[in-house]
Amino acid sequence: MSTNKEAWGSRVGLVLAMAGNAVGLGNFLRFPVQAIQNGGGAFIIPYLVCFLLMGIPLLWIEWGMGRFGGKFGHHSTPFILDSMDKKRLWKYIGVFGIFTNLAVAAYYCYLESWTLSWVYHSCIRTFAGQSQEQVAGFFGSYVSLDHPFEPIFFWVVCLLINTWILARGLSGGVEIASKIGMPLLIIFGAVLAYLAITMKAGEHGAKFAGTLGLDFLWSPKMTMIDADTGKEVYTLLNPKVWLAAAGQIFFTLSVGMGSIQCYASYLKSKDDVALNAMSAGWMNEFVEVVLGSSIIIPIAIGYLGIDQVVEMTKHGGLGLGFKTLPFLFEQWGPVLAVISGVFWFGLLFFAGITSSLAMGTPCMGFMMDEFGWKRERSAWAFGIVVLLLGLPTVLFFNYGVFDEFDYWAGTVSLVVFALFETILFAWIFGIKKGWKEITDGADIKVPVFFKYVILIVTPLILGWVFISSLPNIWDTITNVSINKEIASATDLNIISQLETKKLFVNFSRAFLLLVWVAIAYLVYIAYKKRIREGRTTS
Ligand code: ALA
Repeated sequence: MSTNKEAWGSRVGLVLAMAGNAVGLGNFLRFPVQAIQNGGGAFIIPYLVCFLLMGIPLLWIEWGMGRFGGKFGHHSTPFILDSMDKKRLWKYIGVFGIFTNLAVAAYYCYLESWTLSWVYHSCIRTFAGQSQEQVAGFFGSYVSLDHPFEPIFFWVVCLLINTWILARGLSGGVEIASKIGMPLLIIFGAVLAYLAITMKAGEHGAKFAGTLGLDFLWSPKMTMIDADTGKEVYTLLNPKVWLAAAGQIFFTLSVGMGSIQCYASYLKSKDDVALNAMSAGWMNEFVEVVLGSSIIIPIAIGYLGIDQVVEMTKHGGLGLGFKTLPFLFEQWGPVLAVISGVFWFGLLFFAGITSSLAMGTPCMGFMMDEFGWKRERSAWAFGIVVLLLGLPTVLFFNYGVFDEFDYWAGTVSLVVFALFETILFAWIFGIKKGWKEITDGADIKVPVFFKYVILIVTPLILGWVFISSLPNIWDTITNVSINKEIASATDLNIISQLETKKLFVNFSRAFLLLVWVAIAYLVYIAYKKRIREGRTTS
């Protein structure tokens, strides 16, 4: 029997929790870097098109599916999908909605723990008087576990905080965390954006130095140099730019993960889906486009200039966020250095934890629904599993394990799951019933245009994203880039390091596959148990 008696306490709490699920480290570290690499202001066109034609429809699909499954007491995707169609396949497609959350939480919580540690170091002024290289070196030494106690301590503390909040339940834990975390995040972000834009970069710099970065970020670059071919191409005709935009929409909205369905499964059968989903989605967009673009890039460009920052963004946003900003905050003097360090890493912590809490709920929902576990026990089980799954990403960060988890769980799985769930929702469950799930109890009139978007446009975009990603997936599986590095290396030491890295990368994939199979086995046992107990799934 299910022990799951969870419910949302208020509409505000629900929308903030859903927005918190979406707003994450990706809004502040990933979005601005993607924008710079993909045409600056021109990137906003594919980004908004993907948001309107893929992001919003997926939000509605996932909220609708979740509320539908919740009517039958299902709170995780294997049985939510099963309640929509009885073919065996769907239960196993639903495995992705548990797997992705566990595998992403495994590396995401480690990343989240860095923010706690950097808050601490901002307070005790570790970075005072350090050169840019020293601050960057601190990061390198941290992730290399040169002094393992501290990274492991903060990581375990971070897992304990997540577990403790999850054990308090939706209204008593997640909702309270979101009601505190989201407003604080917006306040911290607004203060940092103000400081960034109005700052005077250096003794001889001009005031409002941050506007240079904003201007650079948002000037549309209608042509760009393709990194692979070296040729000039039109930005808006470059498929890579569109793929990057679609990938960012996936990651930032947390669609294709299974966590939105889980949160929505705790709605009442006539609760609004359409407006709530839009509110959470647009709140995420505000945080991403307005706040996300107004902090790291303006500060970094104001001090370091465009060329250096563009070069740095080639290595992603983590470096800028953790290696460069603490050094630049120090240039603002001791008081502002502490305030901005605490605000920046505090903001990233709130962004991260409201997302990782959402990753915990589908697994907990599954154990409570199917095996009658109590909430506390399920939360602790989640914490322990994330600890075990995350261990390789912590211990072998420098061997590419963290990136491998991010690629398979945080990128490929999302697209695969979103494609299948959209086909199920629009074509098998049927758009007529699907549309009813979206519009029943809605507090807004949903334009009928979206019915056809969900039926035709969204599946086509998802199919295109999936097919276009296949060459990259194949190159990753066959280790093309690492093999190239090995072939061009001459130093035997480097070759041996790269070979070791390849081993770890292959091991990570086998490990993730094993996790997927283990979850599928649990789903199989749960299904047999339901049959034995005569419990129907819809
Ligand atoms: N949506 C979350 C983020 O942007 C996962 O980080």
